[in-house]
Amino acid sequence: MQWETNAEPAVLFVCLGNICRSPMAEGAFRQAATDAGLKVAVDSAGTASYHIGTPPDPRAIKVARRHGVDIAQGRGRQLCEQDFEQFTHIFALDTANLAGIEARAPRYSQAKVALLLDAIDGCAGQSVADPYYGDESDFEECWSQISRATEHLVERFKRQMA
Ligand code: 4NP
Repeated sequence: MQWETNAEPAVLFVCLGNICRSPMAEGAFRQAATDAGLKVAVDSAGTASYHIGTPPDPRAIKVARRHGVDIAQGRGRQLCEQDFEQFTHIFALDTANLAGIEARAPRYSQAKVALLLDAIDGCAGQSVADPYYGDESDFEECWSQISRATEHLVERFKRQMA
């Protein structure tokens, strides 16, 4: 995988609306990094502008809380040019948003861009399905995929920085 770097990592998770999948990824990754003693900056954003300034979807807040993570303070924001300077790693939640990130990347960007599920052996190239039009079980399934992937990411960063 092509995401090794010597810099202290700063990680951005990106979905479409920044109210369901990427806030869950941000929360799950932050918790796993804290538990592992990994010093890392983390944030999330959306490629779309529909939900700028709005809190995460109540179903995302609920499933995160059920797993011991509070994401309620998050507010939607849109991916912007500075993100490509501030973050060493940008993980897309699905292939459509991966394409959206790549299309916005300035030529000078050094940020490593990949799909989140590339972090799980056997899941490379796969998307975390958009749960927005689904029900609570879809959010639970999302959390399960996202938290597995973010735990792998934390292990990878820990090894890299050891
Ligand atoms: P997310 O989910 O990209 O995981 O935050 C969505 C949230 C909102 C919409 C679509 C997906 N929407 O169409 O408003």
